[in-house]
Amino acid sequence: MKLLIKNGTLVLADCEKKADILIENGKISKIGKDVTADCKTVDASGKHVLPGLIDMHVHLREPGFEGKEDIESGSKAAVAGGFTQICCMPNTDPVCDNAVVVNYIKNRQREVNLCKINPIGAITKGENGAAMSDIGKMKKAGAVAISDDGKSVMDSNIMRLAMEYASGFDIKCLCHCEDINLVDGGVVNEGYNSTLTGLKGSLRAAEDIMIARDIALAESLNVPVHICHVSTYSGVEIIRSAKSRGVKVTAETCPHYFILTDDIITTFDTNTKVNPPVREQKDRAAITEGIKDGTLDCIVTDHAPHALKDKQVEYNLAAFGISGIETSFALSYTYLVKTGVLTLSGLMQRMSKAPAEILNLDGGELKEGGVADITIVDLNKKYKIDSGKFLSKGKNTPFNGFEVFGKVVCTIVDGEIKYEV
Ligand code: DOR
Ligand code: ZN
Ligand code: ZN
Repeated sequence: MKLLIKNGTLVLADCEKKADILIENGKISKIGKDVTADCKTVDASGKHVLPGLIDMHVHLREPGFEGKEDIESGSKAAVAGGFTQICCMPNTDPVCDNAVVVNYIKNRQREVNLCKINPIGAITKGENGAAMSDIGKMKKAGAVAISDDGKSVMDSNIMRLAMEYASGFDIKCLCHCEDINLVDGGVVNEGYNSTLTGLKGSLRAAEDIMIARDIALAESLNVPVHICHVSTYSGVEIIRSAKSRGVKVTAETCPHYFILTDDIITTFDTNTKVNPPVREQKDRAAITEGIKDGTLDCIVTDHAPHALKDKQVEYNLAAFGISGIETSFALSYTYLVKTGVLTLSGLMQRMSKAPAEILNLDGGELKEGGVADITIVDLNKKYKIDSGKFLSKGKNTPFNGFEVFGKVVCTIVDGEIKYEV
């Protein structure tokens, strides 16, 4: 069980260097110049060799919504997007709120055998916000975090208990921050463009209040917390200030929040509908700054595949969500590295190392003795995003036709090639 990657440019934590990688038994056994071995060889000349990308926020839809996506199609999409490891949210049917569903997902992962999949357990039974699910049993079965993503836990005392239990089991609470009463049916950001279109808006405050609440709980209890998909400039500010006080808060954002503004909703294209909504220029700028200075630790996709019928309806009725796992690397490279916001090493910190650290997962860097989860990309390859070519069942993207740089050419998991163009 050997594999040799020759002549690539390796992206390490603080530099890039030309070297070969020898993989033996799923581990990187040697990094160096002119490595030779009698085994299958991948020619990476002219390409960059990255630590396998890790996406800690994905919706795979199985069990229950296999018309939108299933574990097999989602895994195919993930490896095509360069992801060697992903974490899936529990808003399935049944909800992943017990060890049986956690085990089911892990079994399906073994059958499909493409990327690694880590289930996230629900905070409350049925994500109903009322009764706590059994965190200990889910963790024992393999859940790596808890979240009621898709919904906010509105009851602050339940959230308190969830954070305390999670901390006791040494896993994190991933918070979808949305004051549902304040959202009051809003479908886009509340501002000039919601007025212009007549679409019902949702205030930044609906997100910020819950970010502040969850940080207040984490600070009072002295436990860690992770804030999902930050979309507001003010949310970035709340997190930055909490970090400066030493609160154990980490946070994520998604490509749509650092690339788009709500000008795009004036098309009424329901592929722009996502929760939280894309906001305004000052939010986009602050999210970008937050990624640059590390206030926002990582970039996730919030891959939320939907069927055509869920999106081909009027804006108010359409499902929230963007199918993002096959576009995330190229969009992030094009809009953050090409523009000089991050170095390629910096991007890998946010798309591989940080998620591994936040959730205590294997991987995140290329090193001798480390796991052989590796993504090879062609950064010079310029192309137009074509959702028709997605392997995901969800073709719902606002980025169709966007011109990007950076094509995933090979994805290696535990030393085995799982995707190759
Ligand atoms: O846009 C979203 N889609 N936001 C969420 O929080 C849930 C997700 C989904 O499950 O479709
Ligand atoms: Zn969410
Ligand atoms: Zn989500």
